[in-house]
Amino acid sequence: MEKIVVKGVKELRGEVNISCAKNSILPIIAATILCPEPIIIDNAPRLEDVEVICKLLSELNCDVNISNVNDRLTINTKNIVEMDANEELMRKMRASFLIMGPMLARFGYCKLSLPGGCNIGSRPIDLHLKGFKLLGAEVVIGHGFVEVRAKKIVGNRIYLDFPSVGATENIMMASVFAEGTTIIENAAEEPEIWDLAQFLNKMGAKIEGAGFGKITITGVKNLKGISYTPIYDRIEAGTFMIAAAITNSKIKINGVNEEHLRPVIEKLRECGIGFTNYKDHSIVVDGRGSKRPLDIKTLPYPGFPTDMQAQMMSLLSIVEGVSVITETVFENRFMHVAELQRMGANIKIDGRTAIIEGKPRLTGCEVKATDLRAGAAMILSGLVADGETVVNDVYHIDRGYVRIEEKFRNLGAEIYRINM
Ligand code: EPZ
Repeated sequence: MEKIVVKGVKELRGEVNISCAKNSILPIIAATILCPEPIIIDNAPRLEDVEVICKLLSELNCDVNISNVNDRLTINTKNIVEMDANEELMRKMRASFLIMGPMLARFGYCKLSLPGGCNIGSRPIDLHLKGFKLLGAEVVIGHGFVEVRAKKIVGNRIYLDFPSVGATENIMMASVFAEGTTIIENAAEEPEIWDLAQFLNKMGAKIEGAGFGKITITGVKNLKGISYTPIYDRIEAGTFMIAAAITNSKIKINGVNEEHLRPVIEKLRECGIGFTNYKDHSIVVDGRGSKRPLDIKTLPYPGFPTDMQAQMMSLLSIVEGVSVITETVFENRFMHVAELQRMGANIKIDGRTAIIEGKPRLTGCEVKATDLRAGAAMILSGLVADGETVVNDVYHIDRGYVRIEEKFRNLGAEIYRINM
């Protein structure tokens, strides 16, 4: 069982390089199913989730290779088979469900095991299935599986009750070869949606409006092989911004698209953090000043991201005054509160709202990572807690962060991984 040990209290210094976005590369890898020619994806992060979706494609008879040169992923789905995807792998990672849209577009058929829920919520797929049905597919659910079948995919207008990231991505991929035009209204606007559309358009798709609430997809006949480098991981970058804030440090972060992090930067500025940005996608974060409590509500992009909620709670648990965080995206994303309380944080939960009274100091102890972002939040708190913090269940963290302890150690943190 691997654990990460963090010793506080440590100031950070130096630079950190951000990896490519997990939530971009996963749908982009799924989208390679749409094209029977070799595709190259550079700067592919060595993440558990990337390995799982690559393994899934390999099990479907695709050629998948990763090389250390440029972390280059080469995928050829020419010989993909329409077999039932490996249930165990499907349940291991919910994002595997993103292969359903491209499989439906390519074969007119797909059968997958229903993706399980997870610690942060039930993770329904009703909006994905609503889109497939409106595109002309028949959907059958039974025995833990969902099966979609369509003789022909015909463009349609699809309104999403909630701007779901996954549903927007799955429907966009399912409609790439549709007869006619598809319009997705109330679509998710996350930067990763824009990145997926850029990737598909470079292959020859015709997608307009991605990154805004209304996306128009005009069906094309086929797509061609390309090479592509996904965007930087805005959540990893945001996590290191909070690392500078929580440790009263000044560090440089390389690999930041300031626009993608606007909601996080604005809130950290309000808290008292300074930012100096450079032209080459790098930014200096100065967390050495005094800090003010905040009132935060997580919302779909361009609102404050739910994936930064736990990390921000770690920071606010040591900022003098009363802060409020309201989680509106997932119904159960406060599992990390109990772990922070073990470290001495003063947090009360009232439904979807957490009231945080900042304490001068936390104390290190054994804690758990309850999801990948909560795990990162535990490391952040460990950097400023008295004594040693031992984070368990680090497999959650490895799903979304490349060599996280190495990156923190290079910034001067006293942190290491142990296997017990
Ligand atoms: C993506 O998950 C991300 N994962 C999540 O990141 C992120 O937290 C989430 O978007 C929100 O930004 C990937 O991109 C791989 P959603 P996804 O569909 O697509 C409801 C991380 O930490 N909903 O936008 O599953 C759902 O219940 C992970 O990197 C429906 O009701 O998120 C939830 O309340 C965690 N019906 C809300 O939408 C549906 O059919 C947001 O879900 C689909 C979703």
